[in-house]
Amino acid sequence: MSILVTGARGAVARNLAALLSARGLAHRLGSREPAGPRTVRCDLSDPGTFPEALAGARSVFLYAEASGIEAFVEEAVAAGVEHVVLLSSSAVLAPAAADNPLAAAHRTVEDALLASPLRATLLRPGSFATNALGWAGPLRAGTPVRLPYPGAHTDPVHEADLAEAAYAVLTDPALAGRSYTLTGPQSLTFADQLSILGRALGRPVPYEEVTAEQWKAEVGAFIPGPYADALLEYWAAGDGVPATLTDHVTRLTGRPARSFGTWAEEHVGDFSADGFRNAEDPGPLARTGASGKGE
Ligand SMILES: NC(=O)c1ccc[n+]([C@@H]2O[C@H](COP(=O)([O-])OP(=O)(O)OC[C@H]3O[C@@H](n4cnc5c(N)ncnc54)[C@H](OP(=O)(O)O)[C@@H]3O)[C@@H](O)[C@H]2O)c1
Repeated sequence: MSILVTGARGAVARNLAALLSARGLAHRLGSREPAGPRTVRCDLSDPGTFPEALAGARSVFLYAEASGIEAFVEEAVAAGVEHVVLLSSSAVLAPAAADNPLAAAHRTVEDALLASPLRATLLRPGSFATNALGWAGPLRAGTPVRLPYPGAHTDPVHEADLAEAAYAVLTDPALAGRSYTLTGPQSLTFADQLSILGRALGRPVPYEEVTAEQWKAEVGAFIPGPYADALLEYWAAGDGVPATLTDHVTRLTGRPARSFGTWAEEHVGDFSADGFRNAEDPGPLARTGASGKGE
């Protein structure tokens, strides 16, 4: 059994690849920017890259890029792939998901997989703990984080738990072919998350409440308007309203989901003045063009 891990530079893919390596499972990494011996070029929006990436693969860990999904499915079937594990999003479960830009790519890819002969396992996380990296700029500069809804709850889930869940469904056929809603162990407001980060950093992390309009204008250069609107809508709906949690991480991994406090302690370096991230980098939320429940 050989496994293709797409999106190799991503946080979840990196953690999954480390697990596969540590346990000696045959796998190949695919990335738009391949680096390293076991990595091939795989751009999910460029079907020309699919044949080499998929050759010999029986399972795939897939990021939700919608533009090439029909061609990807066709090539995967032709290559003999049997099982695809999709990193989807719990945004697909929202009542208005059909009109939600945060859910769109995930829905399109889920639908294409479910309509195909491939066995599909859908991992639907809520909000990633890594979204907090979007605060690295102000935290490193020592300025307040500007929040439109400091009281909005999310369910931050650790990237290592997502990778362990993916590992479980890739390696245990009894778990495959279903969908899982993956959350962290606690519903936390953004203010809670900043206070937990502050404890890990050993200094207070102030925030400043801004209006939705101010926030949208400030992020306009890197978050497209429809995504910003959808995020604001999601946060407004979660303002003072605890997120619904699941035990699916535990069911898949056999142990409790990691807390946001654990995540914060492990990522202190990303928020310190000499952290490896560029203070200009707006973080995963902006780089993916969207985030939040689940984007
Ligand atoms: N942030 C959230 O709260 C949240 C919630 C629910 C679901 N999600 C899903 O999780 C994803 C982020 O996962 P992450 O944190 O592991 O990623 P990340 O660290 O933000 O990195 C972005 C990933 O997207 C991959 N990617 C983007 N465009 C691609 C393309 N055309 N072809 C192949 N790969 C492509 C990149 O792969 P390469 O650069 O290696 O090509 C990389 O793995 C989001 O894009 C979203 O689908 C996020």
